[in-house]
Amino acid sequence: MPRRFAEISFTDSVKAQQARYGSREMYHRFELAENSGDVLTEKEIEFIAARDSFYQATVAENGYPYVQFKGGATGFLKVLDSKTLAYGDVRGNRQYISLGNLAVNNRVSLILLDYPNRRRLKVWAQASVIEAEQNPALMLKLQTAGQIVERAIVMTLEAYDWNCPKNITPRFTEQEIQDIFLVPLQSRLSFLEQENQHLKTKLNLV
Ligand SMILES: Cc1cc2nc3c(=O)[nH]c(=O)nc-3n(C[C@H](O)[C@H](O)[C@H](O)COP(=O)(O)O)c2cc1C
Repeated sequence: MPRRFAEISFTDSVKAQQARYGSREMYHRFELAENSGDVLTEKEIEFIAARDSFYQATVAENGYPYVQFKGGATGFLKVLDSKTLAYGDVRGNRQYISLGNLAVNNRVSLILLDYPNRRRLKVWAQASVIEAEQNPALMLKLQTAGQIVERAIVMTLEAYDWNCPKNITPRFTEQEIQDIFLVPLQSRLSFLEQENQHLKTKLNLV
């Protein structure tokens, strides 16, 4: 567990609960960890590039957290550099809840899941909203699947942490089912069909 994650997440009230339930001593060690965990490495960059969705939490001015599912083409959440993530905000239901929340509190928390491999990455960042007219080149960079990017959500990384695989049920997209399961099955089936045909011919069954 990286140090920066512990610094952000282990607030005084969290530490009090850890003390109450006996895990404070163990978790205090992570506050002293050498790895700060606030710069993405190749491992996180590859993981992020392979995602087609993530969950994004913002905080409303009334104190409520707000979680929204964000989905798009694979790799639509882009790593601009090892401290910066960004995605293009496209027109949706026009409730603008996350945008409204970001206007009063720019902190975001993301969770990215790789269901087939049961991996998950948590990210903390400070977001800024860049409107299309401010940086048209950035909008083009963030454009995927022909969707018009109305604004960019650019996030400066504060911390990340890999979570354990516990309780992640493997789930597969149609493409993954095709690649992982159906292609080998189809190839096996066609081999068996040919073998069957060959045996029938040999035994004069056809
Ligand atoms: C026409 C339409 C298109 C949408 N496209 C997307 C999309 O590409 N990705 C996505 O995650 N949600 C999409 N949504 C759902 C939400 O509008 C979208 O997640 C939006 O960002 C919600 O933001 P908010 O909950 O912060 O207000 C779409 C909704 C509509 C009505």
